[in-house]
Amino acid sequence: MEQPKQRIRIAFNGHQFIAEQGQTVLEALIDNGHFLRSDCGGKGRCGKCQVKIHDPDLTSLSPPSEGEVQILGEKQLAAGYRLACCTTPLRDVSLEIPVSSRLSASVLEKAPPLLLKKHIISETLGERPKNNYGLAVDLGTTTIAVYLCDLAAGRVAASIAMRNPQALFGDDVMSRISAISTEPDLLKRLQRMAIKTIEWGAQALIGSSRIEPTHIKTMIIVGNSTMIHIFVGQSPSSIGVYPYEPQFVEEKRFLAESIGLRFNPKAEVRTLPLITGFIGADTVSAAIAAELEDTPVGTMLVDVGTNGEIMFLGNEGMLATSCATGPAFEGATIHHGMQAVPGAIDAVQIHTKKRKLSYSVIQNQTGKNKRPAGICGTGVISAVAELLRTEIISKDGAFNSKTKHPNLRPDENGTPQFILVPPEKTAEGQAIALTQKDVRAVQLAKGALRTGIELLCKNTNTDLPRKILLAGAFGNYIKPQDALTIGMLPELTPKDIEGVGNAAGAGAILTLFDKRFAKKAKELSRSTRVLDLSTHPDFQDTFINSLAFP
Ligand code: FES
Repeated sequence: MEQPKQRIRIAFNGHQFIAEQGQTVLEALIDNGHFLRSDCGGKGRCGKCQVKIHDPDLTSLSPPSEGEVQILGEKQLAAGYRLACCTTPLRDVSLEIPVSSRLSASVLEKAPPLLLKKHIISETLGERPKNNYGLAVDLGTTTIAVYLCDLAAGRVAASIAMRNPQALFGDDVMSRISAISTEPDLLKRLQRMAIKTIEWGAQALIGSSRIEPTHIKTMIIVGNSTMIHIFVGQSPSSIGVYPYEPQFVEEKRFLAESIGLRFNPKAEVRTLPLITGFIGADTVSAAIAAELEDTPVGTMLVDVGTNGEIMFLGNEGMLATSCATGPAFEGATIHHGMQAVPGAIDAVQIHTKKRKLSYSVIQNQTGKNKRPAGICGTGVISAVAELLRTEIISKDGAFNSKTKHPNLRPDENGTPQFILVPPEKTAEGQAIALTQKDVRAVQLAKGALRTGIELLCKNTNTDLPRKILLAGAFGNYIKPQDALTIGMLPELTPKDIEGVGNAAGAGAILTLFDKRFAKKAKELSRSTRVLDLSTHPDFQDTFINSLAFP
């Protein structure tokens, strides 16, 4: 029987809206511009998307699943708390969003990208009118970062980062492409999600900076090719099937109001150009921020996210490729994985003699000591590097039970796992462990990235890159030595590997400040040659050789 549409009323502000048939409460809330924390992307794992229903017999929502009972407990459930991502309305419902579940700007601050320091912006500005602001947006598959830029002063006035709510339709671009290909109506919904999130971020920045929305005259947006297609309302379906062609590569310009952005309907919105279906405006943006075309020949830019994009300046110009690293480096397919936010383990150390383990946890600015809640991508790489160094993992990736390390214990199915934090020391009272499956996911991810690097070198007759610039939020924090230990990068010295942070965001900001960057982006998009790994005759062998640890 078809489930009818239901009305959801938000108790504290009286706002009402209709939940579409089959929509979870979380989807309906996001669709209507109410943002909740959803650290696990709506997978029912983080427990952050709690709502409290106002319903005497608690029957207005679908019954709790086993997972929900485990996370919330009977007492919380009886008090009306539910996980918004795990439940659908059965009839009209009134609910409130507890403060701990609401997105707050303080939780989401994002520092200006590292690469900006390299550029002397004030010299390029000239005379500019006051109250002239722009927004630079890095629309990532996992995270959306919005930077409010004061164009007269040449500085980032404020910035914010939010989880991309499209993660409800899959962690990586392929899952979102396939969701849209199967159900074309989803394109509009995913577009609306991105736009509402950017609008939410823009309004938070406008409020905290006390400026008028009309002072924002321009917005530059970068992202991978799929994100840009969805943002402008064009289907990314062609990117999902061979020959993986995008519908367009050129930059797009339009007014904010034409796609429903309301902060200033007359602001000009501009996307940077793409190169191919899998090398998008974010890579172009990162390359212009790193001034890759002006670096010595042999410099390689590696942007690691759910997809790995690599650009290499060889003797014959710029060559680029992309490889499917999957979401492991962002912690997403890791059993206890989470984003690099407060509470995430970001480094692990195993002390060889005492066989003890220590770790560091990302803390927030309140100074309150946060217990570990999971492990982020850099933490995973660090843990795997340490396990390899201490031979608890062998070169083929299997746990080595002969080491008899006390933290190496079987899970309830008898599969070995390495306990990083015992239950009594974690935020949620459950042990945080690295499983055999996690190690395999890291092998696949690093194998894919290394294959891309090897084949780019081979195709430019180069033995090794001279220098690697590691971009992306992940690239900013990873220790070069860890990346070398697991064989994710070729045998350079750690000093030849430089973390350049969110270079894509830096490129968008620089384009706002200086039009010459837009020109550089166009030239780069036109002149970069592309190496297609999917049809490369050496792909299979190189990939298989890259799976083992060094
Ligand atoms: S439990 Fe993580 S978003 Fe719902």
